[in-house]
Amino acid sequence: MKKVLVTGALGQIGSELVLRLRKDLGVDNVVATDIKRIEDNEVVTDGVFEILDVMDYNKFLQLAKDSNVDTIIHLAALLSATAEKNPQLGWSLNMQGLVNGLEVARELDAKFFAPSSIAAFGNDTPKDNTPQDTLMRPSTMYGVTKVAGELLCDYYHTKYGLDTRSVRFPGLISHKVLPGGGTTDYAVHIYYDALKYGKYTSFIAEGTYMDMMYMDDAIDAVVDLLNADSSKLKHRNSFNIAAMSFEPEQIAASIRKYIPNFEMDYDVDPVRQGIANSWPNSIDSTCATEEWGFEPKFDLDKMTKTMLDELSKKEI
Ligand SMILES: NC(=O)c1ccc[n+]([C@@H]2O[C@H](COP(=O)([O-])OP(=O)(O)OC[C@H]3O[C@@H](n4cnc5c(N)ncnc54)[C@H](O)[C@@H]3O)[C@@H](O)[C@H]2O)c1
Repeated sequence: MKKVLVTGALGQIGSELVLRLRKDLGVDNVVATDIKRIEDNEVVTDGVFEILDVMDYNKFLQLAKDSNVDTIIHLAALLSATAEKNPQLGWSLNMQGLVNGLEVARELDAKFFAPSSIAAFGNDTPKDNTPQDTLMRPSTMYGVTKVAGELLCDYYHTKYGLDTRSVRFPGLISHKVLPGGGTTDYAVHIYYDALKYGKYTSFIAEGTYMDMMYMDDAIDAVVDLLNADSSKLKHRNSFNIAAMSFEPEQIAASIRKYIPNFEMDYDVDPVRQGIANSWPNSIDSTCATEEWGFEPKFDLDKMTKTMLDELSKKEI
């Protein structure tokens, strides 16, 4: 990986991944793109940034060719809760955008990374310590696009020899950019509200366990997997990666270690609760550890301390 094009670069992941890649590869070797521009964002102001709608295949190809990239990181997608509100758009962006990305990568013989999600699993999947290879019959449009996307990336690898690699991200928790409409977003909002109001109303019910990960570990995972020795990868699309699994009361308890009077109540959103119920409680990331050395550094309390410290420095 020497020169990278990133789609959807102004989202929750891209905003942090682009900065890390610029550090690793040099500012000129990261072409950040998004369908929109945010003027005062450092992804836009401090390096190469281009407007790119991933549905526009010709522009996608031209930009990748002109920039002479050897890797494409495809982040543009509609997330779980948003895709459930507009399933047709979810299918169209998550699938056609992905096909366009894969075709551009095929033209350039570039390495290709597009994240999957724990949403690729479904109700029939074993819920605890979910294995790498298991039954996957998701019941959400987002999950359908993720499982189809995994298969498609594997297809491009076996059919065309394309170097496709991916992870199944759990809910990602970060302080830089707010999440873009996922089911695990409560675990980000709770930190903002804890600092601002000393209380939070959770849209996810008590006792609902989901896998989560602090953004630094997620960024390390993308970079480490892309740099991994291809011959060691038995799996490709996509690796389970896990750092912590908790339910709302546990994150509240972790926050109370720093804000003792923090209060939480519940006003459960049936749509997002339904999605959460169909996902695993915790997934097994042994294959990622064995094949490319995945090892998360953040547990719940370390993440809570970091989130509260970082958000305290911001105007929220
Ligand atoms: N954030 C998470 O917790 C999480 C968890 C699992 C998987 N993922 C996956 O990681 C990827 C990135 O997620 P994210 O959280 O950064 O998403 P996000 O919603 O925060 O950002 C997506 C970005 O894509 C851009 N975009 C939308 N339509 C576009 C188009 N047509 N062309 C170009 N750009 C477009 C948006 O402007 C936005 O900046 C997605 O595939 C998502 O499914 C994320």
